[in-house]
Amino acid sequence: MAQETSRDVGPVVLLGPPGAGKGTQAKRIMEKYMIPQISTGDILRHNVAQGTELGIQAKAIMARGELVPDELMYPMVRERLSRADCKRGYILDGFPRTAGQAGWLDALLEDKFFENSRPTRAWPIVIRLDVDYNQLLLRITGRRSCPTCGRIYNVHFQPPRTDELCDLDGTKLVTRNDDRLEVIQPRLKAYQEQTAPVADYYQRTGRLVAVNGDLPIDEVTQRIFRILEDHHG
Ligand code: AP5
Repeated sequence: MAQETSRDVGPVVLLGPPGAGKGTQAKRIMEKYMIPQISTGDILRHNVAQGTELGIQAKAIMARGELVPDELMYPMVRERLSRADCKRGYILDGFPRTAGQAGWLDALLEDKFFENSRPTRAWPIVIRLDVDYNQLLLRITGRRSCPTCGRIYNVHFQPPRTDELCDLDGTKLVTRNDDRLEVIQPRLKAYQEQTAPVADYYQRTGRLVAVNGDLPIDEVTQRIFRILEDHHG
């Protein structure tokens, strides 16, 4: 895949329900444009694994499939976006997830906090991945990931070459704690009730582009790259 390192990309927001393919596509955008993937779910899971204060507070909430309160999310996201590697742009995977978070992000991007490090294109392009409900269930229940490198697999659609082992480093793959059947429904409900309205927020401001996320992984990637090329062309 040819890499693009010379241009500012600005913020890219990936929206979509659990299992839509946000993490999968974020990694591909990251590799092509050399901008970081900022997955709030991954950062939270890392904090849970490390037993930090944030992780201790978030653990039970995530295990129930509910959203972590904004007062825990905002300092975490603010700190991450202030790092030097975000200068040319970044991919937000899992944030914003409520209309309140979307408003907060806009205010942050306008704030003089970013005066000296504002990427050329400050407003996010928002890409929503639309996926059929039954497909989502298959994707979530079949997901496995590598605890060492973070690579995502799927026993139905994207299996590793050797059963349950990462192709890249041979680590035994794991199933996420919140991919248990009893947690999937609350996660999908939280998406419908709290995150779906975020798309309306961006639609009103003309920043939303919907992509058919039911397509095979490579086709979704091609569509996303085309959108980013048009946006920055
Ligand atoms: P988070 O980690 O963000 O999870 P999520 O939004 O539920 O999304 P997923 O990671 O489940 O799915 P994805 O869209 O990334 O799909 P993936 O690429 O893996 O959040 C977890 C929790 O953290 C939340 O419930 C909440 O508690 C908390 N949290 C996080 N952010 C928060 C916030 N902003 N505010 C409050 N709380 C927050 O793909 C899924 C599977 O499908 C994989 O197996 C993959 O191989 C496969 N696949 C992907 N694309 C395709 C395709 N096109 N065709 C076939 N298979 C595919």
